[in-house]
Amino acid sequence: MSENRTPLVEMRNISISFGGIHAVDDASVDLFPGEVVALLGHNGAGKSTLIKILSGAYKRDNGDILVRGDFAEINNPRDAKKYGIETIYQTLAVADNVDAAANLYLGRELRTPWGTLDDVAMEAKAREVMGRLNPNFQRFKEPVKALSGGQRQSVAIARAILFDAQILIMDEPTAALGPQETAQVGELIQQLKKDGIGIFLISHDIHDVFDLADRVFVMKNGRVVGHARTEDVTKDEVLGMIILGKCPPGAVPGPGAMQTA
Ligand SMILES: Nc1ncnc2c1ncn2[C@@H]1O[C@H](COP(=O)(O)OP(=O)(O)OP(=O)(O)O)[C@@H](O)[C@H]1O
Ligand SMILES: [Mg+2]
Repeated sequence: MSENRTPLVEMRNISISFGGIHAVDDASVDLFPGEVVALLGHNGAGKSTLIKILSGAYKRDNGDILVRGDFAEINNPRDAKKYGIETIYQTLAVADNVDAAANLYLGRELRTPWGTLDDVAMEAKAREVMGRLNPNFQRFKEPVKALSGGQRQSVAIARAILFDAQILIMDEPTAALGPQETAQVGELIQQLKKDGIGIFLISHDIHDVFDLADRVFVMKNGRVVGHARTEDVTKDEVLGMIILGKCPPGAVPGPGAMQTA
């Protein structure tokens, strides 16, 4: 199975401190093509910090990042994008006052041979990419602020796809969404998996992500408690990892696992 393939991303023995606080301490995670890996843990566990190292927002103190088996130099967000790594945040994802196509092409607009904006080409491409992700979406002419949270999320994802994202980081993607919109994001994620895109899904709520994830990594106090395939563990067992740092038999313990006698 996945063990024989090269991971899309490997973060090995990553550490970073802020002042005296070990925000991330010797953390290792990996992600395979077409896989959804949930990163779970309480508030302050180190999830966002770990993932900000992958997206180039923070520079690690120690550890290595490999992309498709090769050591990757990721020191800023531009480097990360070069490796096809895109982050989607619930809030800062979209420009409110312009429509979906304009959002997709913000900062890299298509132009006609005469130098004017090629709105026709941009809208056609927007319809193609959005149609693949969210076939029911029709509101191409409206500013994005008129859209629902789930629809806005699909615009943000479409933008990342258009940038050739192979590795998507979604930090609390459904935190501000209702049940129906959350389901919509779930469908988007299934679609992205089919395209071989790997997704890190970050949440402090296991119920948001357990059913979507192929594997889970649990962090506590900056360290990885362990990881498991979701088919090998129950939600209660994962809760035990999150709350107590206790690794069940179906999980692979990490450096942060509670030591049992
Ligand atoms: N820029 C920073 N400066 C100082 N300390 C920081 C910084 N960023 C994070 N920390 C600290 O690092 C630790 C981990 O924070 P992080 O944001 O990674 O947690 P998290 O798991 O994402 O939590 P949440 O579920 O609340 O989003 C916390 O103790 C936090 O206070
Ligand atoms: Mg966080």
